[in-house]
Amino acid sequence: MTKETMNKVPDIIIAIDGYSATGKSTLAKLIAKEFGFTYLDSGAMYRAVTLFAMEQGFVPKGEGKIDEKALQDALDKGFDISFGEGNKAFTGDRCIESEIRSMEVSSHVSPVAALPFVRAFVDDKLHAWGRRGRVVMDGRDIGTAVFPEAQLKLFVTASDEVRAQRRYDELLSKGQETPMADVMANLKERDYIDSHRETNPLRQAADAFVLDNSDMNLHEELVWVKGLVMGLFRIYEGV
Ligand code: DC
Repeated sequence: MTKETMNKVPDIIIAIDGYSATGKSTLAKLIAKEFGFTYLDSGAMYRAVTLFAMEQGFVPKGEGKIDEKALQDALDKGFDISFGEGNKAFTGDRCIESEIRSMEVSSHVSPVAALPFVRAFVDDKLHAWGRRGRVVMDGRDIGTAVFPEAQLKLFVTASDEVRAQRRYDELLSKGQETPMADVMANLKERDYIDSHRETNPLRQAADAFVLDNSDMNLHEELVWVKGLVMGLFRIYEGV
């Protein structure tokens, strides 16, 4: 997209929601690059809070209850999350990008993200970012709860097999070899918790455009989204 066309894309919020491992973040990052927007990964924030809770011992290693009171007190005192070069997650000056993507964090994040005070903590940060405008945000409840006023909402989905393979490949590329059965079980468990929790469960917003990318490559997805943005905002490129 030319710089001139890029500048014609209005000051909007693009909300991308959907199931785990549908490639939402990869697509969101590409869209942000294409339109010169800021990308914000809300899942990374829930993952960062989960890592923090695990390291502080508020989340038991095996089965057991989360120490909600201790976690809430600690978050009330302040917990810093920021994004650096290449959207890598940081807390203070410590890069936590690879830890938050581990299977261990993945297997604890959904119950932590279901806690209303954790959602409020993350939502505050997301709202502060959203106010700056020209933002692409991905997650589970961005178009339904965090930014119901977002001008463009996408709901991304793909078959279970395709999603599990993508997550498996992603873990493998980071040297985290994980049995496929574990990856699939984790995805299904998270889908269930994320869409059945009481506070802001994963749902498709009534005004969201659905993208099933099971049989699409990233380039095709981007072309689809660009067409949508250009059509919605009556932007004409190269004519
Ligand atoms: O997108 P992800 O897989 O990195 O997200 C990790 C978890 O965070 C996901 O299982 C549910 C939670 N999450 C959420 O509850 N709401 C969001 N807006 C984003 C993520």
